[in-house]
Amino acid sequence: MKQFSILLDELQRDGRLSREAWLYLLQRTGKELRQIAAQKAEALTIEHFGNGVFVRGIVEFSNYCSNDCLYCGIRCSNKKAERYRLDEKEIIECCRAGFEYGFRTFVLQSGEDRFWNTGKLCKLVEKIKKDFPECAVTLSVGELSKSDFRSLFEAGADRYLLRHESADPEHFAMIHPPRQSWSKRMECLADLKDIGFQTGCGFMVGTPGQTLEHLAADMEFISGFQPHMVGIGPFIPHCDTPFADRQTGSAELTLLLLSLCRIMDPQLLLPATTALGTLMPEGRELGVLAGANVVMPNISPMEVRSKYSLYNNKNIADPGCAGVLKSELQKKLSSIGRKIVIGRGDHGGRSC
Ligand code: 5AD
Repeated sequence: MKQFSILLDELQRDGRLSREAWLYLLQRTGKELRQIAAQKAEALTIEHFGNGVFVRGIVEFSNYCSNDCLYCGIRCSNKKAERYRLDEKEIIECCRAGFEYGFRTFVLQSGEDRFWNTGKLCKLVEKIKKDFPECAVTLSVGELSKSDFRSLFEAGADRYLLRHESADPEHFAMIHPPRQSWSKRMECLADLKDIGFQTGCGFMVGTPGQTLEHLAADMEFISGFQPHMVGIGPFIPHCDTPFADRQTGSAELTLLLLSLCRIMDPQLLLPATTALGTLMPEGRELGVLAGANVVMPNISPMEVRSKYSLYNNKNIADPGCAGVLKSELQKKLSSIGRKIVIGRGDHGGRSC
């Protein structure tokens, strides 16, 4: 316990740890030590952000995807996936409903859909920024060239989420097909930050072949890269992927990693992910209690939600309508002494 606390203090002070220290911490997923990390993490969150939790409405606007990630239900090889894409009008409608319920950030997420090319995305972003000038737009549409990223930034997009998935090139290669490259992913992340996006990376916990060494490498990568946002959720198998029979990732280890991220960087925008909420009924609240300060409810039209199936049971976490959703979330958060913030919830600032 003493050694555990000493390492947490060192992480808070230096924002980094040795590989050995990471491995030591990552083996301590038992309740008692996890609680120590969570308490420290939550205290730091409240010190930096108060008791508010930022919300983002996520619009999953297309599940067409040219990538073939082995873990993901919307990979192009999954012929059973029923494909859909929303048009501009439908997406704006989601934002409008979301805005009325108090969302001031819209996260537009899709597979790598060639129909929604950069030109169309730029127009969409411009329209959303024009209709909702006080709102932030976050994009999560995969890998693009630096000039495409720049066009999207110039169109008004504020933030970009692109999980690195694994900081270890060999592990990355185990969970992706050969044509998807680790170096390209890393290059995209560097480009995004360089352009000026509030940039988010992240990874799943418990993907096939992942070891604690790999997770330590993920934490080392994050401490060096200094992203503005980090998305961490458990791996959950999808029945129509090559990883259908693999084990689900550990919720406890996910919670510990969230706390360690918070302690490493108190300014971080850190969501309690949908995957965590899917795995555990109170996953989101536990995430917030472990240091998360962002929740991203789904505001996509009900008819398409079940089709954006990255993993099994994905849509059990959220009720349908954005209004019910927000009031339920508010209730849950107030039960743990926290409340929803109506506002963009930007990162406090960091030179890119
Ligand atoms: N389980 C959990 N998370 C997944 N993602 C994709 N497939 C799964 C899965 N089976 C995550 C990836 C991706 C994000 C949008 O969803 O990390 O970056």
